[in-house]
Amino acid sequence: MSTRKKISIIGAGNIGGELANLCAQKELGDVVLFDIPAKADYAKGKALDLEQNGAVLGYDVKITGTSDWKDCAGSDVLIVTAGVPRKPGQSRDDLVAINVPIIRSVADGAKEHCPDAFVVVISNPLDAMVYELQRRTGFKKEKVVGMAGVLDSARFSLFLARETGFNIKDIRAMVLGGHGDDMVPILSATTVNGLPISSFVAKDKLDAIIARTRVGGGEIVKLMGTSAYYAPASSAVAMAEAYLFDQKRVLPGAAFLDGQYGYKDMYIGVPMVIGGNGVEKIIELELTADEKAMLAKSAASVQGVVDVVKNTA
Ligand code: APR
Repeated sequence: MSTRKKISIIGAGNIGGELANLCAQKELGDVVLFDIPAKADYAKGKALDLEQNGAVLGYDVKITGTSDWKDCAGSDVLIVTAGVPRKPGQSRDDLVAINVPIIRSVADGAKEHCPDAFVVVISNPLDAMVYELQRRTGFKKEKVVGMAGVLDSARFSLFLARETGFNIKDIRAMVLGGHGDDMVPILSATTVNGLPISSFVAKDKLDAIIARTRVGGGEIVKLMGTSAYYAPASSAVAMAEAYLFDQKRVLPGAAFLDGQYGYKDMYIGVPMVIGGNGVEKIIELELTADEKAMLAKSAASVQGVVDVVKNTA
């Protein structure tokens, strides 16, 4: 039996394809690209294209397209992109009715075939979908996370880099809260290599950048007619790598809160340490009164969506 790591990607669409591409190029392990039966050939075709790409780019991993959960058995990491993306004018919450049954079927497959996997959920509305997947599988909470904070922080970083003219590598940004339009940028944790961002960007400019970050996903949906996929895929891969290589990375993302920041029984974006045991620690930042109020608003809207999910038969 192969001792290579195995990464299964659930949903072989735009994000799924880019995830498989990154996992292959980084040789993280063998990759399974799973989709529904109607898309099995599509997943197989994508897998074959990506395997052939290895001959050109010089990587060698096995990539399997499938609609059979048995092919995902024994996965080390599961990245869930199954669901419909937004169309222009839709909010992430509008996706609930369609994506709840999908996430439940994914949860059932995962529970049966991948009980030991570290699971990264990308499907929207993110915070509610990751909550539902954990609830339905009963997987350990530290082994189930949602990808949003890395992406939201990346968007914030880009806009700050363009505004300051500094290299994006030197921008450190932190965005917390739900993956929605009331996400919470943490300015005390947003720096140019440790130097306060407020020394470089005037308040009105910063406010405009925060407003643009909040609707950063929607800006792309409006332009492309569908959701972003390159940066979302890279963000999830960063979380997967932190687990696979026990990197102890400090990354923002949706983690299960059990009293931290004053919230219980919910997934929401917070900084966490991801290592070989999954979520090894949730970091509790000192928040300003404003930040606390923004987090409360964001948490209330996440809870509202979770309540709808819970009431969905
Ligand atoms: N099991 C597996 N895959 C499924 C299932 C299911 N039960 N239901 C749907 N899918 C597949 C679809 O067939 C499709 O190939 O999920 C894939 C989603 O791909 P895209 O439509 O290209 O969507 P994408 O842009 O990748 O976004 C996926 O991530 O960011 C979120 O809002 C986004 O919820 C959306 C998800």
